[in-house]
Amino acid sequence: IPVEVFDLVIFGATGDLARRKILPGLYRRYLAGQITGESRIIGAARTDLDAEGFRQLVRDAIAEFVAADKRDTAVIEDFLSHLDYVSIDAAKGDQGWKSLKAMIRQGVVQAFYFSVAPSLFGDLAEKLHDHGIAHSESRIVVEKPFGRDLASAQALNAMLASHFEERQIYRIDHYLGKETVQNLMAVRFANILFEPLWNSQFIDHVQITVGETVGVEGRGAYYDKSGAMRDMVQNHLMQLLCLIAMEPPYHFDPNAVRDEKLKVIRALQPVPAEDIVRGQYLPMNGAPGYLEDCEDPESKTESYIALKVHVANWRWKGTPFYLRTGKKLRARASEIAITFKEPPHSIFDDAAGWRENVLVIRLQPNEGMNLKVMIKEPGPGGMRLTQVPLDMSFADALGAEGADIPDAYERLIMDVIRGNQTLFMRGDEVEAAWAWTDPIIKGWEARGDRPHGYDPGSSGPEDALMLMHRDGRRWREIKE
Ligand code: BG6
Repeated sequence: IPVEVFDLVIFGATGDLARRKILPGLYRRYLAGQITGESRIIGAARTDLDAEGFRQLVRDAIAEFVAADKRDTAVIEDFLSHLDYVSIDAAKGDQGWKSLKAMIRQGVVQAFYFSVAPSLFGDLAEKLHDHGIAHSESRIVVEKPFGRDLASAQALNAMLASHFEERQIYRIDHYLGKETVQNLMAVRFANILFEPLWNSQFIDHVQITVGETVGVEGRGAYYDKSGAMRDMVQNHLMQLLCLIAMEPPYHFDPNAVRDEKLKVIRALQPVPAEDIVRGQYLPMNGAPGYLEDCEDPESKTESYIALKVHVANWRWKGTPFYLRTGKKLRARASEIAITFKEPPHSIFDDAAGWRENVLVIRLQPNEGMNLKVMIKEPGPGGMRLTQVPLDMSFADALGAEGADIPDAYERLIMDVIRGNQTLFMRGDEVEAAWAWTDPIIKGWEARGDRPHGYDPGSSGPEDALMLMHRDGRRWREIKE
């Protein structure tokens, strides 16, 4: 279904995110027929370019980041004809703002994407107002990092609130744009099967893993001030945890969903030192380790973290959530595994062999679900049990549609145009997430903890294994 006609201004349009994700994503939506005739995309950045120069940059970005079977020269040229460019330095003077004002139309959806460093959000918001460009229906889109602690997130929220209302602000967490992440809500709330068991009476524990094979190459300076806790846990893993742990919203409505997520975040318990393991990848075979990549031999920033987390409410009392994420691990593999408890009474002998039911939701790659169930081992040898997977990959189950999963940004940008905030973080949600994160980070900073080294290509530091072993549990293997 095509979206309404819009003017989308992308600040930071020549930057990495715009080239990799935003502009190729818009092209794919154009190819899909979702962006109609008169819509316009206006690039804005410091770089001194004209519209033709910007089109060339986008042409190159499409060639690099869009799959060959989606590149249609005629459609690309058509798409490029909707593009314009204005050179603006957000931090300096008024140059460019008049031209921008002249380009923007009234009576169409108006969105401003701040794909720039957060330190520029204030300048941009102010200039948009001072020059009479934004109005009470304009939407703004902001990227992470949304602050680096509670105080800075509050300051950002306050600054944005002085120019825009909450209903105009779209804070991106691109994990919410992933099809498989949205699928968590469908699985939980469109089936009767799981929800009756979805609590600490029946669930032993939950594992959330986001494994990456890349290091911090080239992003060392940003990453070293952030680390895995701020870069991944405070936002992406927290969102996954919320979707697994939240109560059913009364309706699939932006505020209903976000209210429920907020309650989960507020119920998160402080995490003691013994429930946290941090790591840094080591050099290997000539490849630099984390300390070389971040160019600070003394750095105590973590490129890996594992945590045991408790959600203190009726539903989850006694069911731990184990979270882990890291760079340079064995595989790029993200999944959520829900391990169920033993049946209340076994009618079989111990020798029959029993194992837990596990529901694994694979987020990426090989998106799908796998429910491990016990059956009788075939054969005449008496009653022996064996575990088999009820395995479903989206690609197999849904054919071409399942294999062709749109990029998170495509979905999210279209939601901005549609005016749907369900998959965006509300201000209070971000602040609550930092309120939980801050004392954890302050704790290890005060103790002066150093991360443990781990080998690239491994599943993280040895100590992380202990986090589960001492509870009589074990991590699942990180594999594609
Ligand atoms: C970003 C982080 O938000 O998410 C990166 O800043 C990380 O460090 C990336 O690599 C992971 O995203 P994805 O979509 O590749 O899982």
